[in-house]
Amino acid sequence: MKPLKILNVVGARPNFMKMAPIIEAIKHYPGHIEQQLLHTGQHYDEKMSQSFFVDLGMPRPDIDLGVGSGSHAAQTAKIMVGFEKVCLEQAPDLVIVVGDVNSTMACTITAKKLGIRVAHVEAGLRSRDMSMPEEINRLCTDVLCDYLFTTDYLAEQNLVAEGIDRKKIFFVGNVMIDTLLKHKKIAAGLDLSRRLGVQPRGYATLTLHRPSNVDNPAVLKGVLEAIAQIARDLPVIFPIHPRTKKMAQQFGLEHYFNTGDKVEGIWITEPLGYLEFLHLNMNARLVLTDSGGLQEETTVLGVPCITLRANTERPITCEKGTNVLAGNKKEDILLRAEHILAADVAGQIPEKWDGKAAERIVGILLQIHSGELR
Ligand code: UD1
Repeated sequence: MKPLKILNVVGARPNFMKMAPIIEAIKHYPGHIEQQLLHTGQHYDEKMSQSFFVDLGMPRPDIDLGVGSGSHAAQTAKIMVGFEKVCLEQAPDLVIVVGDVNSTMACTITAKKLGIRVAHVEAGLRSRDMSMPEEINRLCTDVLCDYLFTTDYLAEQNLVAEGIDRKKIFFVGNVMIDTLLKHKKIAAGLDLSRRLGVQPRGYATLTLHRPSNVDNPAVLKGVLEAIAQIARDLPVIFPIHPRTKKMAQQFGLEHYFNTGDKVEGIWITEPLGYLEFLHLNMNARLVLTDSGGLQEETTVLGVPCITLRANTERPITCEKGTNVLAGNKKEDILLRAEHILAADVAGQIPEKWDGKAAERIVGILLQIHSGELR
């Protein structure tokens, strides 16, 4: 039988740790699957992109579209034009997309219009918040895809409720957790916390980059005020996202940040590599975040997580894990922090978040290719 020709797509930081285990799992089937890796270039800074390839041992992309930043329409359009050309040249049998960034949606639409099958890994997550660009990306991607790989039973319920044929849906677990479990030991052995002079459980970490939190001066100010208050007792390490840095400068809010050598207050640093940030999160007393993936990672690490959003597309992390939603208002964040720091939260690990999701995905794709599964 002819090998299955797969084109894997990554574009932005949270895609890399999801794609890495899939590439590894495919490597076990030479002769059965041929794979190529395409990077759209949505994220391009060394610290937002290349450093992850190194940390995760990923091959260099075979194709780099180099699209860079832009408005949603401009970025999406650039990706589509570049990706169409590649699809015509390479004629893959299947495109694999992960997550919910603009690259995910742009490549799905392009491939489907050329009659190429598409598999979406991390399908079915829904925040029901249409002001989130990612929610639009998720909906467009899932309605078009041929194979939908889900992380939990709630995602499957969402897809079925939207009228998607159950035969297309496969509950496989969480590829991001495959990567976390694989790298946990190496991350634990790093000496970063010692170099920073922080004790295990003696600090919090923070990520903040959602437009809903950082693009409005009053909102960003309120969030930073709350966090500055928490940081009086518990220093907060903040690897600052380029978008947030730009906005804080624009709004004159940089005085909330400590850029000194000693980790105190809201202590900012450049975006960190995967292993370094995992190291800091696994030893943190608390994680404050508006990221999606971190809600899942803290659930598996058993570290309390306050999500600085009013909703989440990952409710399983609240139902089973250590995550609580605080929204982005100062009083609400402080109340949640007080609560969570007063008690030890115990969480459970969701079903199939066991390090084997990528293996399951590749197994299913091979069964489909051989005709065993329809
Ligand atoms: C994107 C994803 C978001 C994901 C986040 C993780 C979409 C719609 N959003 O948001 O889901 O959680 O990535 O980081 O796809 N910039 C740089 N260097 C870079 C990349 C970006 O300086 O390497 C700056 C640029 O000023 C750019 C801004 O960050 O305009 C935003 O980048 P963009 O890719 O549009 O969205 P993110 O906010 O990173």
